[in-house]
Amino acid sequence: MTTEAPQRNLALDLVRVTEAAALAAARWLGRGDKDAGDGAAVDAMRISFNVIDIDGKVVIGEGEKDRAPMLYNGEELGTKNGPRMDVAVDPVEGTRLLAFGRPNAISVVSIAPRGTMYNPGPAFYMKKLVVGPPARSVIDIDAPVKDNLKNIARALGKDVDDLVVFVLDKPRHRQLIEEIRQARARVQLHTDGDVAGALMAVSPESDVDVMMGTGGTPEGVLAATAIKIVGGEILARLDPQSRAEKDHILKAGMDLNEVLNVDTLIRSDDIFFAATGISGGTFLRGVKFTGKGAITHSMVMRGKTGTIRFIEAHHSFEKLMRISAIKYD
Ligand code: FBP
Repeated sequence: MTTEAPQRNLALDLVRVTEAAALAAARWLGRGDKDAGDGAAVDAMRISFNVIDIDGKVVIGEGEKDRAPMLYNGEELGTKNGPRMDVAVDPVEGTRLLAFGRPNAISVVSIAPRGTMYNPGPAFYMKKLVVGPPARSVIDIDAPVKDNLKNIARALGKDVDDLVVFVLDKPRHRQLIEEIRQARARVQLHTDGDVAGALMAVSPESDVDVMMGTGGTPEGVLAATAIKIVGGEILARLDPQSRAEKDHILKAGMDLNEVLNVDTLIRSDDIFFAATGISGGTFLRGVKFTGKGAITHSMVMRGKTGTIRFIEAHHSFEKLMRISAIKYD
């Protein structure tokens, strides 16, 4: 076996980006304005990204350039003094969760070597099935729900009625929820936030064992970075929710039948992931303002080593304001 000297862990740089975005967004908790919260996070994220030594290009961003003034798909990020990387950002994952003060709004970023991240193009929605490492080889996106649940339960050494399945509470999932209940598994319904759902599904500490259902394609790619690092699996297939979306996908030459997985969504191991809690929840605690500063909770992951770190940061606004372009008060 050959050994390598430790390399730079870019996730430790990335966490400063998600912390800055979470601190900015958290001021908008429960204030009913999802765009203002997202805008504040985008501004903070962009400023802090541009001191990171990478030659980054946004693959998963806030949308097309004409609709998103910053962090748009194709935007270049970083100092350019460093590796060429694809960048996925979601400054506020769960904008409605933030606007209504509900749990599990998080700020998320991942990076992978240039050209290795799945580009969703015009595909907004995908069907997803996410499990942690013990069940990674027993799932099949085309199998009946009850068969998947039976196989997952067996792989986890549980009964089906021990399982908890994370599902987004959307009308499109009525039948899925019914099938999960008929199989006698239990359901956790969340209005939003399936990146957090995927993180919970692959985390041995969380109550959730599986995530099922259709959510955002960009969120699927972001989550895939973390799922890959922990050795879990995501099976996915594009699942357009409107005629126009379907037409755009077909026009772009994308295959609606292709089954994507953790290795086709992210085609490298040299990957990095960071997430910071905004509203707090079962997975990451939210931003706590302390008067003179704030406390944030984040997780950072590096693909090559599989190291996962949980970071509690104590921020002093007085000192930060003296050195930072980001407004913290
Ligand atoms: P936003 O942060 O963009 O609001 O996304 C929240 C979210 O719930 C995602 O977690 C999920 O993938 C997607 O929206 C589902 O989309 P929709 O609410 O249109 O069903």
